[in-house]
Amino acid sequence: MAQPDLFGGPDLPKGVHVLRGFARDAAGAVLAAAEAVTGEAPFRTMQVPGGGTMSVAMSNCGRAGWVTDASGYRYSESDPLSGKPWPAMPEVIAGLARAAAETAGFPGFAPDACLINRYEPGARMGLHQDRDEQDRKQPIVSVSYGLPATFLFGGGRRSDPRIGLVLEHGDVVVWGGPARLYYHGIAPLKDGVHPMLGRQRINLTLRKAL
Ligand code: SIN
Ligand code: FE2
Repeated sequence: MAQPDLFGGPDLPKGVHVLRGFARDAAGAVLAAAEAVTGEAPFRTMQVPGGGTMSVAMSNCGRAGWVTDASGYRYSESDPLSGKPWPAMPEVIAGLARAAAETAGFPGFAPDACLINRYEPGARMGLHQDRDEQDRKQPIVSVSYGLPATFLFGGGRRSDPRIGLVLEHGDVVVWGGPARLYYHGIAPLKDGVHPMLGRQRINLTLRKAL
């Protein structure tokens, strides 16, 4: 069931791959591209169906963007704030995601959605499954920059045991196959100052949504 992490971390469920430092060299280019996106489609905190507001601020690029409001979670081809299509996915981001997926054993990944998450100290993401996408054969690629965060990865049931992986600037996690619908989340971000990004963590989550 579990396979050893090549980098000596805890045993990871089959289908979960942690590529330490994979996106580090590309940080400058990827973050500049993400900043151009959020210049057009600004970060915002969204409402969840239960009535609360997420602590993570979000934006999107690509054909589809993940959104939530009082009526539920979904992908939208336009930014609800502007009514315009999301900014195109910069090639430097799409290419990085394809390369990471291929390295993890998922060749041919063609993401059409890139969610950009901004965590400030205290922000968290509760345990959830990524299940708003149509094609579950495609993996998920998650790129982390800035302050370290603890990524919690469980199993197919909410109550399954979880492992905690500390994700640092430039780490990439790819999950798919048997782990595609596994529960995961992010523990509240600890305060700190990152040399490149200051008091925040930026995460890019790439998926094939439509
Ligand atoms: C997510 O599960 O959508 C976000 C994961 C992360 O911020 O690393
Ligand atoms: Fe997720």
